Amino acid sequence: MVYYWSNREHLFSVILVLLLGFSCNDKTETTEKTDKEKPELIMHEPSEMAALMNALYAFNLQAKNQIIAGETPVQIPLDLLRLHSAEMTKGKERTAVWNSFVNVFIESQQAVADTLSNTDLKVRHNSAINNCLACHKTECVGPIPKIKKLLIQ
Ligand code: HEC
Repeated sequence: MVYYWSNREHLFSVILVLLLGFSCNDKTETTEKTDKEKPELIMHEPSEMAALMNALYAFNLQAKNQIIAGETPVQIPLDLLRLHSAEMTKGKERTAVWNSFVNVFIESQQAVADTLSNTDLKVRHNSAINNCLACHKTECVGPIPKIKKLLIQ
């Protein structure tokens, strides 16, 4: 844990990710609207779920870099059970599709730090990321290109 936050480079990427936070909506659409209607700039707070998702992204970006460097990522320092309770952006909800993917994802994310596993670390990491993508395919398409970059080639 101490190592996790003490590495300046990692901290920087975490901050960058938080600043660049993505939403489900298609960015280009928003830009077009802004040009035509010139709405006031509204700074809205991200939902609890969006904040949790961005933290998941930041953790997995660090995990990817660690695995590539031959290191073993620490157990994820986030309470994944909050996926079941975190408040979502208005208009979003836990659908049947969400429910069918969420537990599979949680298990695969926890398996990355399972020191007793015989499965290759890279395979376990990519499996967790593919489960992010499986849910995102229907539940929130915007960040898919960004999430794909978490896969280790
Ligand atoms: C069970 C479905 C599901 C899984 C699994 C999932 N997501 Fe999400 N994700 C969503 C939904 C739904 C939202 C929109 C949440 C909201 O706006 O309240 C979201 C939002 C996001 C966002 C945008 C946050 C923002 O600022 O608006 C990012 C980035 C993201 N997810 C990354 C990930 C990553 C990385 C993983 C895996 C480590 C992951 N997600 C796993 C469903 C999922």
